[in-house]
Amino acid sequence: MQIKLRKYKERDLDRHLELFLMNGICGKIDEKIREQEKEWLKKVITNYKKEKPDFFIIAIILKGKLIGNLVAEKIDTEKKTLEIGFWIGKNYWGKGITTKALKIFLKKIIKKFKSKKIIAHHKTNNPASGRVLEKAGFNFESEKKGMKTYSKIC
Ligand SMILES: CC(C)(COP(=O)(O)OP(=O)(O)OC[C@H]1O[C@@H](n2cnc3c(N)ncnc32)[C@H](O)[C@@H]1OP(=O)(O)O)[C@@H](O)C(=O)NCCC(=O)NCCS
Repeated sequence: MQIKLRKYKERDLDRHLELFLMNGICGKIDEKIREQEKEWLKKVITNYKKEKPDFFIIAIILKGKLIGNLVAEKIDTEKKTLEIGFWIGKNYWGKGITTKALKIFLKKIIKKFKSKKIIAHHKTNNPASGRVLEKAGFNFESEKKGMKTYSKIC
């Protein structure tokens, strides 16, 4: 499965919203959601130009098509820590895509932000996320209020 990571572009909005529908994040795309996601996309793109961004989001591309994303947030350049997250469209689940994308992303962000520790959380009712994290070298740290925390020392 050939995947590519690239920065978001403004023209990704329609496909990004299509993925919202695919995953049932919303039942339909109304003007409010469209505007909200348009603003989100603008922020994501503006952030690429910042010298010290507080978050960094990259698109996952399969056969030229946007299928999901990977997020680095709470980027602390002094403590050299950050948190990650990810999601992809339902039609693409169970093919090893997120694990592959996460491994590439980790190399990129460790180099870019000189991170020493990377943290990730997921809901306990979403064990696939924990499995993705384990396959990418994360270790389970703790569980609290329906959330599991994993970390990776770099
Ligand atoms: C979680 C998610 C990212 C997984 O993506 P994916 O591309 O299907 O992941 P992969 O195929 O790389 O790996 C999934 C692993 O989870 C396992 N898995 C799937 N369902 C599982 C379940 N119910 N219990 C335990 N493991 C499960 C798969 O077997 C696979 O592990 P394996 O390779 O050892 O067999 C995807 O389902 C998603 O985007 N979900 C919605 C958003 C989300 O939850 N984001 C995470 C927030 S941190």
